[in-house]
Amino acid sequence: MRWPRGLDTLCFGGDYNPEQWPEETWEEDVALMRRAGVNLVNLGVFSWSALEPEPGRYTFGWLDRVLDLLHGGGVRVGLATPTASPPPWFGRAHPDALPVTSEGVGLTHGSRDTYCLSAPAYRQAALRIARALAERYADHPALALWHVHNEYATWCYCDHVAEAFRGWLSRRYGSLDAVNRAWTTAFWSQRYGAWEEIRPPRTTQYLGNPTQLLDFRRFLSAELFACFDEQRAVLRELTPDVPVTTNFVFGEWVPVDHRRWAETLDLVAIDHYPSAAGLAAAVQTAFHADLARSWAGGGPWLLMEQASSTVNTGQRLLAKAPGELARHSLSYVARGSRGAMFFQWRASRGGAEQYHAALVPHAGPDSRVFREATELGALLGRLAEVDGARVEAPVAILWDAEAWWALLGPGLPAPDLRYLDALAAAHRTLWRAGVTVDFADPEADLRGYRLVLVPSLYLTSDAASVSVRRYVEGGGHLMVWYFSGIVDVDARVRLGGYPGAFRDVLGVRSEEFHPLPPTVAVPLRVPEAGVSSVSSALGALGALGASSVSGIGEVQLTGRMWSEHIHLEGASAFASYAAGPLAGLPAVTRHGYGAGSAWYLSTGLDDADLATLLGAVLAEAGLRRVPPPPGVELVHRRSGGTRWLFALNHGDEARVVPLAGTAFAGGTDLVTAEVTGDGVTVPAGGVAIVRR
Ligand code: GAL
Repeated sequence: MRWPRGLDTLCFGGDYNPEQWPEETWEEDVALMRRAGVNLVNLGVFSWSALEPEPGRYTFGWLDRVLDLLHGGGVRVGLATPTASPPPWFGRAHPDALPVTSEGVGLTHGSRDTYCLSAPAYRQAALRIARALAERYADHPALALWHVHNEYATWCYCDHVAEAFRGWLSRRYGSLDAVNRAWTTAFWSQRYGAWEEIRPPRTTQYLGNPTQLLDFRRFLSAELFACFDEQRAVLRELTPDVPVTTNFVFGEWVPVDHRRWAETLDLVAIDHYPSAAGLAAAVQTAFHADLARSWAGGGPWLLMEQASSTVNTGQRLLAKAPGELARHSLSYVARGSRGAMFFQWRASRGGAEQYHAALVPHAGPDSRVFREATELGALLGRLAEVDGARVEAPVAILWDAEAWWALLGPGLPAPDLRYLDALAAAHRTLWRAGVTVDFADPEADLRGYRLVLVPSLYLTSDAASVSVRRYVEGGGHLMVWYFSGIVDVDARVRLGGYPGAFRDVLGVRSEEFHPLPPTVAVPLRVPEAGVSSVSSALGALGALGASSVSGIGEVQLTGRMWSEHIHLEGASAFASYAAGPLAGLPAVTRHGYGAGSAWYLSTGLDDADLATLLGAVLAEAGLRRVPPPPGVELVHRRSGGTRWLFALNHGDEARVVPLAGTAFAGGTDLVTAEVTGDGVTVPAGGVAIVRR
């Protein structure tokens, strides 16, 4: 982990695209940046056609002037290599380097990201412009960071990609026989007799081969990484002291294993745009921030892009409410981001994203957004002390991109088995309880966590199965969701009963799936033994918002979406199916294993029921918490003997966060500079950051 040169405080700023504006605007930009407290910009992310208007002819003069102006204004620069959007001349000169869709349609220049990631002409042109920039600006005093490319995520199915895919497969498997085995090509007569017969998974007649699809994503991740890594090598050769990063984007269309990439990065940076408004946006913000921190190995990371208000995707614009700009920014900061950056500095007049919000909107600086941005800049300037403090996360959710990708495959037993949905439900249940989670690598040493949650980890490696078992043996507490541990790394079913990777630690064997249609809900019966463990957990339930539960005998759970036929092999039933074909059989189980415990949830629960069940599991793990008021997000940080409590009120009423009996009574709120007593009042939509 290396940090941008010359930045010893939290970063604040955004993408700066001066090539869209006449030079007169630039001086005003820098003056406004100073006013807002901007200390870092990402410069030139989409500037390739302005820098190299024809092959090999560079026009660096304008960029020289911009860099000098920024330096004069005290603004540091993350200089981008502009390789996410080659100019029109590139596609004209190299038609073979334009991307081809899975249907075989060749795409034309006209948007961005219009290149084939494996085309030699693209790779060479990208390296050439990266080298030219590094040679020109190696010694520029404003240069703090290299920002390579933008959001690596491009797909292509052309012949260049086919060749590269075959190369990757031969390195992974060593022989064609091994590919045939891993892909189970005996099914449907798919056996390959020559490497040349293997293609990317282009559109085909019916369901494709799941392992071929999974391997194609793995390959794309490796190939995109190679694109990044070769640029980074050039930048490191010419500017060994300048850290290099790239901004991660996250979504089903992104074939990047971010956790793997992150292991080699100088700095993990993410872009994040919530797809919902209100409380749901706050919950998504926390989810992505926790992911980024986890990819960064628990260390600092940077929110590289977010929107100051509306996001321009061609859908209905989603405007941020007053106060949200700061609150979301501080949620990222609370969860470890070393600052809050935006896309973009000044709203574009034209172009495809002309209605996307910016720090300086079309209306100019006399606007709510610019005023809120300026206030945020000032506050971030006062928060440098939290930088580097550890985020306290006692619970881990296992995260694995390959498990996710496998669960996007064809031919699965129910369309609503969705990895991200399962993860998000677990995460938001704990968010409501004020419990911060890490997303841990399934193969990692998990001993530092009080509780480990495994929502629908469909693909589980042997190493992960061993690491989870060791964790429980050593005294850890575990909860595994349905459809975890089903297949191995080749997406082949683990035989002998589900969930193959976790049968022994869970003490159960499941012999048959019974997916439930959306209209069917199955009541679960919690027998006396189960009720009493719920009752012992009632203290924790309030923390999880399970308000419907007030005492023994009132616990009601309902199974949805999924059920399965389980046999107890060491575990005991905590709840059983009370109706339908599985009536009387176990639905939720608990197994004492080694010095720990392992719970299995064989059906889907809504949020309230999940809160009830997790309440019991948290209590067993010794994690009781004072429940935060509704809509209030809590995050704890610690560094040596100093602790910070971030309290973000996403609701529209002021809330008091009780502090009596906690380390924070009598602390100082860094936002108001006031000393707190037995509680801190967080205004509607506001934030308190208590230091003790
Ligand atoms: C990001 C991208 C930016 C801009 C933004 C709009 O994903 O990096 O260039 O397009 O989305 O929300």
